[in-house]
Amino acid sequence: MRLITVLLVCCVVLMKNVISRSLAKEGNLSLPAIASKYGYTTQLYDAITEDGYILRLFRIPGMRKVPILLMHGILDSANTWIIRGNTSLAITLANQGYDVWLGNCRGNRYSRRHIYLDPNIDEDFWNFSFHEYGFYDLAAIIDTVLYITGADQLDAIGHSQGTTMFYVLGSTRPEYNQKVNVLVSLAPVCYLQNVPPPLKMMIQYSPIINNLATSLRAQEVFKENADMKNALKALCMHPLIGYSMCIRDTVFPITGDDEEELEADFLPVLLDHFPTATSVKNLYHFAQVSYRRQFVRFDYGADINLDMYGYPIPPKYDLDNVEMRVALFVGQNDFVSTVEDVAILKQNLPNVVQHLVIPRRKMNHADFVLGRHMNEYLFPYIFDVLRTYESENVLNVSH
Ligand SMILES: *[C@@H]1O[C@H](CO)[C@@H](O)[C@H](O)[C@H]1NC(C)=O
Ligand SMILES: *[C@@H]1O[C@H](CO)[C@@H](O)[C@H](O)[C@H]1NC(C)=O
Ligand SMILES: *[C@@H]1O[C@H](CO)[C@@H](O)[C@H](O)[C@H]1NC(C)=O
Repeated sequence: MRLITVLLVCCVVLMKNVISRSLAKEGNLSLPAIASKYGYTTQLYDAITEDGYILRLFRIPGMRKVPILLMHGILDSANTWIIRGNTSLAITLANQGYDVWLGNCRGNRYSRRHIYLDPNIDEDFWNFSFHEYGFYDLAAIIDTVLYITGADQLDAIGHSQGTTMFYVLGSTRPEYNQKVNVLVSLAPVCYLQNVPPPLKMMIQYSPIINNLATSLRAQEVFKENADMKNALKALCMHPLIGYSMCIRDTVFPITGDDEEELEADFLPVLLDHFPTATSVKNLYHFAQVSYRRQFVRFDYGADINLDMYGYPIPPKYDLDNVEMRVALFVGQNDFVSTVEDVAILKQNLPNVVQHLVIPRRKMNHADFVLGRHMNEYLFPYIFDVLRTYESENVLNVSH
């Protein structure tokens, strides 16, 4: 009897070790591999944009008829929605029977492909910003999801830049507003004029940084497996100084701090997935939006602007066109998507159905996707919105 108990305890302890170690080790798994740990089979699709980019779409099928599309934020990928495992949004939605679709923007680890441009050689590949993410990528992704599922509309959840894309698309191609039943905007990014330092300083110096990058012919930021990225990652993985150097002193001053939700144990997993690549031009476009204090097209300088837009200054995106239903969720401790800037956004969007400051005081920019207890602090509000605007016949009765 005693022996059996001892054996059992040993077994449990061993198992626990194996499980926690396998979590960390599997940090570098791809999205389908992570989903399969939770019992889900992932389908892969490609969405091809009008300008030739090939984007990877993941689908975790569910029995509900209205598909739901999740769009990641800047320097991120679809993985962000799943790396918290059974407390992640993707797995939580799948557990509730949603037909979950996860998009990836051009240039990131899953979408570094084009029908004729080579991202390693052709500089044109990297000539894009969030404008193209919205105008081309999101249009192609939505059309692919609706084509494959046969649905007329989808629900959508975006994080940060993953919300900007919807504002770009809804304003420049208004016909897409009808294809979105409701957009849940997590840490929405549209106006960036109230960001505090140090991000504010980085934005002030962005023209200089951009010129430097141009002269170095650097166009891709955080390229996969680049020496620079690998060195940074090794440094941040350091068990003693990694967390304080990379998270406490680097990430938190930009996103807002929250050590409970972004804990040290999670860092090795996070570093296998974040950051992933984007273009210098994308970062610069966000900086321009911030210092111009307007949601505007990319500023190429007067001559090219005149050519491209017919005006020497870049035109504003017309948010009056964004007629889709939008729920705005904002964190009080978010230094990127600030309470002030989201209030401006609310005034400019015609169809805001909810504007909620998340009660958790420490809620920061990263928590919305990466926080460890979002199933408690955030998801109930998301499900409230989805249920409120659920169209009829959502459940497939034959199931
Ligand atoms: C993940 O990491 C393991 C060891 O840490 C390595 O053997 C494997 O090749 C990595 N997988 C990917 C997809 O990078
Ligand atoms: C997630 O899985 C862990 C370990 O299996 C379990 O203890 C926990 O209750 C689960 N959480 C949820 C929200 O399902
Ligand atoms: C990027 O594209 C724009 C518009 O097509 C063009 O005017 C500009 O010269 C391009 N920039 C580079 C660096 O190729």
